[in-house]
Amino acid sequence: MSGPCLGLRRAGVLLSLGAAALLLLLLPRGRAPPRPRPPRPAGPSARRAAGPGPAGSRGSSQLARRGRLGTAGSAARESLELKDIFIAVKTTRKYHRSRLDLLLQTWISQARGQTFIFTDWEDQELRLKAGDHMINTNCSAVHTRQALCCKMSVEYDKFLESGQKWFCHVDDDNYVNPRTLLHLLSAFSHSQDVYVGRPSLDHPIEAADHVQSDGSKTTVKFWFATGGAGFCISRGLALKMSPWASLGNFISTAERVRLPDDCTIGYIIEGLLEVKLLHSPLFHSHLENLQRLQGESVLQQVTLSYGDPENKHNVVSVGGVFGLQQDPTRFKSVHCLLYPDTIWCPAKKMS
Ligand SMILES: *[C@@H]1O[C@H](CO)[C@@H](O)[C@H](O)[C@H]1NC(C)=O
Repeated sequence: MSGPCLGLRRAGVLLSLGAAALLLLLLPRGRAPPRPRPPRPAGPSARRAAGPGPAGSRGSSQLARRGRLGTAGSAARESLELKDIFIAVKTTRKYHRSRLDLLLQTWISQARGQTFIFTDWEDQELRLKAGDHMINTNCSAVHTRQALCCKMSVEYDKFLESGQKWFCHVDDDNYVNPRTLLHLLSAFSHSQDVYVGRPSLDHPIEAADHVQSDGSKTTVKFWFATGGAGFCISRGLALKMSPWASLGNFISTAERVRLPDDCTIGYIIEGLLEVKLLHSPLFHSHLENLQRLQGESVLQQVTLSYGDPENKHNVVSVGGVFGLQQDPTRFKSVHCLLYPDTIWCPAKKMS
């Protein structure tokens, strides 16, 4: 990727690693202390939608404790189902085998109906596996700002067309936990303005916005959610983005401010629409130190990732299912812990 966000990102990663370490120290291990909970809808259907277990509940209370989502969340719980969420996975031809196959085998198998793969190559093998859930964007396969913005633009248009309530974007090196994702989004109404994800920097970025009549440039400061960790946008907000994002406008907006795809999303939402990014620690990209995620807490995140080949020891710490040789990304192990009935998972040990 190129563009002004990247340099900022690299510098920001170091800073945010420090902040993340601090946050992790502050988070409880094991049993969570008692605390006020946002009201939950009663009844079995809501419980079923949110998924069983403590995973999701602790997840959203992490957010509440950060004091960003608490009030919005308690005001508007709705009964949300997985089918209401549109999950866009961005990939490229060279990763169809090495990355997509793993995702199809793991989390996508639990969210087939709502997951769409956005790529740049008509791959017959992937077409057979994904059917019309593989979308050939016809965008260039090069890793440039323009090509990435082209894909985001198609993702956005397909989401609007789908009529679903939530748009979530992830990369092809993300594991998505469908239960915790559903639980997180259930805290809001899709008609509210919601933009949730992990900022990749610990400060807002600044971009030259437009040129004044006297030739001077005005700048705008905004936060953005890093695309590599995944982020979600409510339909209500997505509709408001339309003048700058639909039908190719996304590409011209990105060109105008000269920003990569994820920064441009932040620019439209925070900079133009003045809606704040909800900072969530539950989304994770390969730019973080993933080894800090250990044990039970791994299963309570919304997205995970793994280090690229130069950094292949940067993976989450889960033990007991597959070894590193068999499962270098740890996604298979995570998947078997979340969905132990999966056919290729080892039979549960008797204890
Ligand atoms: C890409 O091109 C093919 C063939 O022309 C077309 O059928 C398809 O709809 C295009 N994809 C998008 C997202 O426009």
